[in-house]
Amino acid sequence: MTRIIHLSDLHFGFERRELIEPLLDLVNGAEANLVVVTGDLTHRGRSSQFARARAFLRRIEAPLIAVPGNHDIPLYRLTDRMMQPYLRYRRSIADELEPIGHVGAVRVQGLNSVDPMSWQRGILTPAQMRRAVEAVQPDCINIVALHHPMQQRPEVDKALMRGASDALALFERSGVDLVLSGHLHIWSAGAFLAPSGRSLLQIQGGTALCAREDDLQNEFAVLDFAGDELAIHRHVSPMNERGFRPPQIIRFRREGGLWQPG
Ligand SMILES: [Fe+2]
Ligand SMILES: [Fe+2]
Repeated sequence: MTRIIHLSDLHFGFERRELIEPLLDLVNGAEANLVVVTGDLTHRGRSSQFARARAFLRRIEAPLIAVPGNHDIPLYRLTDRMMQPYLRYRRSIADELEPIGHVGAVRVQGLNSVDPMSWQRGILTPAQMRRAVEAVQPDCINIVALHHPMQQRPEVDKALMRGASDALALFERSGVDLVLSGHLHIWSAGAFLAPSGRSLLQIQGGTALCAREDDLQNEFAVLDFAGDELAIHRHVSPMNERGFRPPQIIRFRREGGLWQPG
């Protein structure tokens, strides 16, 4: 079995401080093979916020990879955003914006979907898509991890990332098995599976620590991969509770290359 923990949208600078220790206890207690953080490590990309994010990440004992989110680049300082958007991210978190994690039978390709020209929306370029599919390894579970979701329900009020539809189609026919994303602060797993299943499973993480009350809850997920079976342990902390509830377990199974619930 390979265990991956998916954290997203930490938003240091606007985080629920009382949840930091319970989150670290659960993350370290899970003894994961890899922790994947899909962006928005900070709330406004400030140096002090990156320092807090870095201190938090350093306390995670498992190997860890992260990709930036739109909140990790300057919003108001336009010159900084255009000229050196990742300066603080690189100083505090990692120089590599598209890291690779490879543990057991699971390979995770990070992609940087942030677009400094369009702060909220995000973009995947054809070159990024190509790099991701060229890295697919047939004998692995191939995961792409990025901040912006590749598909959204129509009621979502944020614009879908540029390139999302092309990337999704390409990933799907090129052997990407699973996509991890964040950004919406709305959890969903397998939301876009067709009744007959789909070769690519999408897991959209909620926010692990953001204190925005409209988000209603914080959460993260532990993913256990064993052959063609995936068990997701979803840990939720409602905003008015001080810790995480016992996890809900959601299962998916692959048959004939297609993911299905169960
Ligand atoms: Fe976020
Ligand atoms: Fe975001």
